[in-house]
Amino acid sequence: MSAIEVIKTRRSIRSFNNKAIEDDVIEEILDMARVSPSGGNRQRWKFIYIKDSNILRMVKGCCPGFYGDAGGAIIAGLENEADTLKTRSNSTIGLLDIGFATENILLAAHALGLGGCAIASFNSSCISKIIDSPENFIPVLVISIGYPDIQPTMPPKKKLSDIVYINSWGKKWRRLENRE
Ligand SMILES: Cc1cc2nc3c(=O)[nH]c(=O)nc-3n(C[C@H](O)[C@H](O)[C@H](O)COP(=O)(O)O)c2cc1C
Repeated sequence: MSAIEVIKTRRSIRSFNNKAIEDDVIEEILDMARVSPSGGNRQRWKFIYIKDSNILRMVKGCCPGFYGDAGGAIIAGLENEADTLKTRSNSTIGLLDIGFATENILLAAHALGLGGCAIASFNSSCISKIIDSPENFIPVLVISIGYPDIQPTMPPKKKLSDIVYINSWGKKWRRLENRE
C-alpha cells in the first residue's frame, strides 16, 4: 500500500480476532512512534506496551471507551520534567506530540495488517496505578491494538470544501466544490 492508501484506508478498529501480536511486529510499530515529530524534538513521551493478558484486562477495566478484545494496548503519555510541570504551553505541545505519535502507531499498525483505536475515555489514576508509573508521568491516550476481524467502512467525514478556505476565512475554493 502507498502511504496515501494507508492514510485513506485506516479506520478505528473496535473488533479483533484472536491472532497473537508478534513481538517483532509490535516492535516495528513502536519504532514508528519513536521517529514521530515532537515540539523542539524533546520526545518527552513514554509508551508502555501492555502485552500481559491479565494486565490488559485491568487496563480495559479503566477504559470505558475501550471496545473489542484487542491482543494488546499501548499507553502513550508524557514524562514531565520538574521545571515544566503542567505549564500550559508545554502541556499543549506535549499533547500534540502524543497525537502525532499515536497517528504514526495507528498508520504503522494498519500498514502491517493490524489495527487499533485511540482511546481518550479512560480513568487516568486507574491506569497510572496499574502500570505503576511515577507522579510525573501523565497518560494521554490508550491505544488498543490487534488483528482486525472486520474492516469497517469509513464513518461520515465532512467534505473538503466544507473545511478548507482559500486565502481568507470563509472564502471557498471553487475547485473543491465538485469533489466527493
Ligand atoms: C483524541 C481521540 C480520542 C478518541 N477516543 C476514543 C475513545 O475513547 N473510544 C473510541 O471508541 N474511539 C475513540 N476515538 C476514535 C474516534 O471515535 C474515531 O477516530 C472517529 O470516530 C473517526 O473514525 P476513524 O478513526 O475510523 O476515521 C478517539 C479518537 C481520537 C483522535
